[in-house]
Amino acid sequence: MLAGIILAAGKGTRFKSRRPKVLHPILGTPMVWYICKALRGMVDKLFMVIGYGAEYVERACKGMVDQFVFQKDQLGTGHALMCALPEILSCKIDKCVVVNGDMPLVTKELFDLFIGVCLEKELDLGLVTTHLEDPYGYGRILRDDKGFVKFIVEEKDIKDSHTKQIKEVNTGIYFLNLLKLKDLLSLISNDNAQKEYYLTDIVELAYKKGLKVDGIISKDKDCVLGVNNPKDLNLCESILQNKINDFFMSKGVILRNKNLVKIGPEVNIDSGVDISGPCEIYGESSIGSGCVVESNVVIRNCKVGKDCLIRSFSYLEDADVGDGCQIGPFSRIRPGTLLEEDVRIGNFVEVKKSYLKRGVKANHLSYIGDASVGEESNIGAGTITCNYDGYKKHNTVIGKKAFIGSNTALVAPVKVGNFCVIGAGSTITKDVPDEMLVVARAKQKVVRYKKLRKRE
Ligand code: UD1
Ligand code: MG
Repeated sequence: MLAGIILAAGKGTRFKSRRPKVLHPILGTPMVWYICKALRGMVDKLFMVIGYGAEYVERACKGMVDQFVFQKDQLGTGHALMCALPEILSCKIDKCVVVNGDMPLVTKELFDLFIGVCLEKELDLGLVTTHLEDPYGYGRILRDDKGFVKFIVEEKDIKDSHTKQIKEVNTGIYFLNLLKLKDLLSLISNDNAQKEYYLTDIVELAYKKGLKVDGIISKDKDCVLGVNNPKDLNLCESILQNKINDFFMSKGVILRNKNLVKIGPEVNIDSGVDISGPCEIYGESSIGSGCVVESNVVIRNCKVGKDCLIRSFSYLEDADVGDGCQIGPFSRIRPGTLLEEDVRIGNFVEVKKSYLKRGVKANHLSYIGDASVGEESNIGAGTITCNYDGYKKHNTVIGKKAFIGSNTALVAPVKVGNFCVIGAGSTITKDVPDEMLVVARAKQKVVRYKKLRKRE
């Protein structure tokens, strides 16, 4: 049985951040997600070694990993694998692919090729290497006279300038025949510059024992880039951004500011969509044909139907937007919102966890939360659903074709029937039956001005 093991326990000291390194997002998605996605399906069982920020990493990868293994102290990549070894061997696994959790651009194709070669050649230890113009920071590959890999030396342990100039580097993908290597793994020591147990030391141990060590040299240098600091993260994000944007443009999506449009790896955009940018479309989002997305828009986990217009400075999250809707400028659509077709949400309108039926209009300065609004109702400027009483959230129900006058406060729980008209400035605290006109505000008083102030 072949296992996959992702090493994701490190803190990522070079990021100088409290967030576990592997959770730094690339196009809105944590970097370790990409590795899970590429390795899943290529192996019989997928393990992940977690340690620093374990609960957060586990939560981010739930459903993608079969088994998590805990590495209490992060003593190096060799130690991380050793922590997983008992669990792996107890599952009757004899071969494994070990992958660093910080190489988000890795692809299924590379794993497929690598695993194929390792199995075909019956390798005891396989490696993926590549040649980099600037190899700084990577472990360098040393080969013997016959071209076999005999040693990997880490950047911090390089003592001579000749080795520093070696351009062939270790990418952090290994194939291990565990039956042959499990005893050797326990011989890895921490006698090096970083006082860490380097997984890379297995190469020398295997070579000296006369085991079969070989691998592949990846021609695609981008897909094996390691991310150790914000600069690497930025580089990987730009590479992926370009790739995704080129894909969508070839499909017929118009990107007017290609370099400023960021589209996540799970997003689906139909041909004919016109996106200005800058903008971010992340998570499990989809955008239907004929939509126009103006500048400075953020869309996360939203399903946007066909022919919608999303105007500038709008922020949409975990919502479902029907065909022909118009949103913004300056709108906020919050989680749990469902807009049926042809709904209009205008400037400075916030909608949260609400169901707005076909043709509803809320064009100016409103808060609609925990509400349901019937077909073709009009929500006047400044209308607020007062959904929170300090302890609990309550619902507001508005029927169809209702007209809610400007500056109305709807104190939930409350219901306004079909075809009702609410006078501007009303505070509605009681249910209103169908077809009623309600005015609930203080009567206007008109008194002589001279009583209050002497006439000049
Ligand atoms: C490692 C390799 C280096 C290679 C480079 C490729 C070693 C010793 N060096 O260096 O040869 O060129 O990757 O990018 O392996 N991790 C743990 N537990 C630990 C330490 C690390 O799980 O105790 C995980 C990290 O979370 C990370 C991965 O292992 O995902 C690699 O660790 P990192 O510190 O990034 O190694 P590099 O210095 O990049
Ligand atoms: Mg690294």
